[in-house]
Order: sequence, then structure tokens, then C-alpha cells
Amino acid sequence: MAGRRKFWTPLCDLLGIDYPIMLAAMAPDLSDPKLVAAVSEAGGIGVLACADKSPEEIHAMAKETRKLTGRPFGIDIGLPARAESYGLEYAEAAEKARIPQEYIEFRARFLRERGIPLVDDVRKANPGMSSVASFKLGEAFSRTQVRAILEVRPALFVSALGNPSFMVPEAHALGIKVMSVVGKVKDAVRVAQGGVDAVICTGTAAGGHSGDIDGMVLIPQVAERVAPTPVVAGGGIVDGKGLAAALALGATGVWVGSRFIASAECSAPDWYKDKILAADDTATARTKWYTGKTCRHLRSDWDNACDASGLAPLPMPKQAILATPMALGAAQAGHYAESGIFCGQGVGRIEAVLPAAKIVEQMIETARDVLARQLPGRVNYD
Ligand SMILES: Cc1cc2nc3c(=O)[nH]c(=O)nc-3n(C[C@H](O)[C@H](O)[C@H](O)COP(=O)(O)O)c2cc1C
Repeated sequence: MAGRRKFWTPLCDLLGIDYPIMLAAMAPDLSDPKLVAAVSEAGGIGVLACADKSPEEIHAMAKETRKLTGRPFGIDIGLPARAESYGLEYAEAAEKARIPQEYIEFRARFLRERGIPLVDDVRKANPGMSSVASFKLGEAFSRTQVRAILEVRPALFVSALGNPSFMVPEAHALGIKVMSVVGKVKDAVRVAQGGVDAVICTGTAAGGHSGDIDGMVLIPQVAERVAPTPVVAGGGIVDGKGLAAALALGATGVWVGSRFIASAECSAPDWYKDKILAADDTATARTKWYTGKTCRHLRSDWDNACDASGLAPLPMPKQAILATPMALGAAQAGHYAESGIFCGQGVGRIEAVLPAAKIVEQMIETARDVLARQLPGRVNYD
């Protein structure tokens, strides 16, 4: 775009973008063609969340995105090595998963006491109700997704889980860059050795599935251990201060999720956005009660009741199969917090729903100001 004020890092050269800002993939349907195109048009790069999408749906979403922008975009899926796949039909999945009776009884009590219906139709999910996506996890399924992505040829492929090394040579031959999301140094080293073009490393503040380690600790360690592979930092980054800090820690750009949920283009329902705007620094919890894997979301009564139940979380995807009909019922009955509002710890500083381009522009303006004016004015050297 002519006249755009530049702020660039090697990530921009790698991806052919203006600003080192990536829209993090958020399934289901938050990082959709509309939001992805808006971020790519603004000079960053949008990444389509396709974890729960079939090969046909991946083709359709890429086509839709290309109608909206000619700029680079990415596609993200999970590559689970061990997760079981139960298909998308709830009743069948529940039967196959054989959820223990005491968990079924606990859920029934929880719902009865609050007047929440059990809704077992996953098509009733709102964008952002990620627990639903878990129904489709499985290695065989994800390999069919990889094939579709190679056919679609986006600028970038991102694996949310697992190691994409098996597909790196083919992706590179097609001109597709490959990145992988990690939350531990060990995993970062493994994917870097597998040949990814950059490692996306998310600290524990990140929304959705996140690790134990704080970004302040993780990002510099990963950057040192995987050099010269570039690192992109994620988790709790909602503005230009976060961007400047990430660059100081050794990252080459940022992977931003929650901030873009509160954007005009995001298809999350208004109540989802309102809850994010209202949340403070203590509002999130990281529990296994929605999906069976540690996942950051707004703390809810479901978390509190599960904590008090004496039960242990079931492994993914069994816990998601247990929680999803509760979450869908909660959304329907207006118990929004219980529906599972996945978001990061940075929500305390998200104060307005803005157009995605404004979010990008403000992030760049603030980062420039911090680096070029504020820090030199505040730091003295001998
Ligand atoms: C609602 C929601 C859904 C998510 N779904 C995915 C996903 O499908 N794939 C993925 O790689 N990460 C997913 N994540 C994690 C994000 O990609 C990203 O790591 C995280 O949002 C960064 O932290 P932040 O929210 O504090 O910016 C999700 C996060 C949220 C909040």
C-alpha cells in the first residue's frame, strides 16, 4: 500500500509482508477468511484456523480469502501424533469414547442446578468454541488436511501441534513457508531441526492451548537455542509495547490472537467480545476442564465445579466430548462464561473493539514510539 509507514524485520522479508504482525490461528471460525484478509490487507499476515476443517472446507476457505485479498496468508492445523479421532457426530463420538458414568452424572447435576440444557449438536457451536474442534483430531485426518493445504499453496503453513518436518521439503518445493507453534525449548529445538522457517513460541499467557512457561523466560531461551532459525513470540501480546518487548527478547515478530477477537471483522458473537472487554488481569484460568489439555479461557463456573468435584480431567478428546454439550447448552441459555471463552491473559488491556487495520496500525505506532523515543528517553548508558 502506497504511503504505508514501514516497520520491518526479517519476518517481513520471509513472508513478503510489511509489518511483523501475525494473526494467530483461532479455531473454530474466529480466524476466518474475513479476519485473515483484514490483517493481511493491513500489512501483517492472517492465518486461517483450519484445525477442524475438512480438505474441501480448506479449499473453500482459501478461495474465499483470495477473493478478499491478494496478499500473503497462512493456514494452520494441528498434527496430533497420538490423539484419537471420533468423527464429528456427537452421539457416536460419546459412545466410542465411553465417558465414565460418574462424569456423566456430574455433568447432569451441573446442568440441572443451573437450568442449562444439554445440547449435543456440534453444528450449534459459535465461532471460538474450540472444544468442538477436538472431535476431529487424529493423525489420519490431519494428513488429508496437509494434502489439501499443499494443493491450495498458501504463503505459509503453521502446525499447532506436532512436528511438520515430514512435509517441509514438499512445502518448500511449492514455495510454502512452514512454521510450528511450541511452548517448550525441547519442542522448539525439535521443529527447528526439522527444517521449519520459523518457530512460533507461545508463553503461558496465551489464549487457548498453552504451556506452563512464561514468555519472558521462554522466548529468549528459544531464540538462543534455535538460532539462526527466527522466532515469533506469542501469548499476552495486545499492543505495541508487547511487540517492542518481543523484539527485545529476541523474536522477529509477534503472533497475536485475543487482541484480534475484539476486532470489527472477527465473527465471534458480541457477548464473546463483551466478556473479553470486561475481563481483567485475573479473569483467565488455565485448566483441562474444557478439552482435556491445558487451555486458557475466562474462568467459569464449570471450572469451579470441576475443581470441587474430586474428578480428574479426562484426556483429550474425551474431556471435550464431555464438556462440549455443556458448553453449547450454556451458550444457548445465556450462561456465556460457561460456554468456554478462550482467550489469553492479556485481555485486561483490551479495551475496545476496533477494525483490524486500526489494531495493526496502533501496534506499529506504539512499538515505534517505544523503541525510537520512549526507551532512549528513559534509559541512560555510560
Ligand atoms: C479462541 C482461540 C482459539 C484458538 N485456536 C487455535 C488453533 O486452532 N490453532 C492454533 O495453533 N492455536 C490456536 N489458539 C492459540 C492462538 O493461535 C495463539 O497461540 C494465542 O491466541 C496467542 O495468545 P494471545 O491470545 O494472548 O494473543 C487459539 C486461541 C484462542 C484464544
